[in-house]
Amino acid sequence: MEELLRIENLCREFNTDSGVQRVLNDINLTIYKGDFTVIMGSSGSGKSTLLYALSGMDTVSSGHIWLGDTDLASLSGDKMALFRREHCGFVFQQICLVNSMSVLDNVMAAGLLLKGNKKELAARAKELLKSVEVEEHTWSKFPSQISGGRAQRVGIVRALINSPDILFADEPTGALNSQTGKDVLDLFTKFNEEGQSVIMVTHDLKSAIRGNRVLYLRDGKILDECDLGKYDGNNEERAEKLNSFLGEMGW
Ligand SMILES: Nc1ncnc2c1ncn2[C@@H]1O[C@H](COP(=O)(O)OP(=O)(O)OP(=O)(O)O)[C@@H](O)[C@H]1O
Ligand SMILES: [Mg+2]
Repeated sequence: MEELLRIENLCREFNTDSGVQRVLNDINLTIYKGDFTVIMGSSGSGKSTLLYALSGMDTVSSGHIWLGDTDLASLSGDKMALFRREHCGFVFQQICLVNSMSVLDNVMAAGLLLKGNKKELAARAKELLKSVEVEEHTWSKFPSQISGGRAQRVGIVRALINSPDILFADEPTGALNSQTGKDVLDLFTKFNEEGQSVIMVTHDLKSAIRGNRVLYLRDGKILDECDLGKYDGNNEERAEKLNSFLGEMGW
């Protein structure tokens, strides 16, 4: 297994009215290339905070996040933004497309700063949109004119436009109905099968069983993990295994 991220003694503290709150408490963890890693844990356990730290969306208080020779925890400002653009893609629960831009422009804008060749970028954006079955006749529409499920598929494409090392997702199906949620999960599975490393936070068992490795977070620490093996479509068996693990975790 090839190492993707090595997380050492990671801490994140927030200053609150009632004093300093330690939300990530000395996390040590290795994430591997090609894995579909899932982070679970009760509300407030620090899942999103961890995801934001690993994706360079937020700073940390102490510790290291190694991606190759770069310690993401040591970057700030423009350097962090550039690193994030080059290496990380992010899919949110609330689909954050720019409403004043067309579907195609939304995807291209995410890649524009990095890749100078506009023609190549447009070709890649179109190819990606086709691969998630966002049809050509919707490319010139605005996000408000397409369905939520389709918008989330555009969001996934936008996250993948720069061929990120890691695709991060925080509750990507949280705002979708069950059929469109399944479609989105199928896409995560498809891209992971093609080699895309994924790290996803979820509360949802149906989403979590797509991962091969489920980490359980409690009070800002990784309590334990469950190895499900690569997704094989055997939903019932996987759900049973994960359920029993979550039971042990007191979920
Ligand atoms: N910017 C902030 N300032 C102060 N406290 C924060 C901040 N962000 C998060 N927290 C606190 O950190 C803790 C963990 O938050 P986080 O959002 O990571 O939890 P979570 O596991 O993602 O929860 P949920 O499942 O509800 O999304 C919470 O107690 C939250 O109030
Ligand atoms: Mg959260």
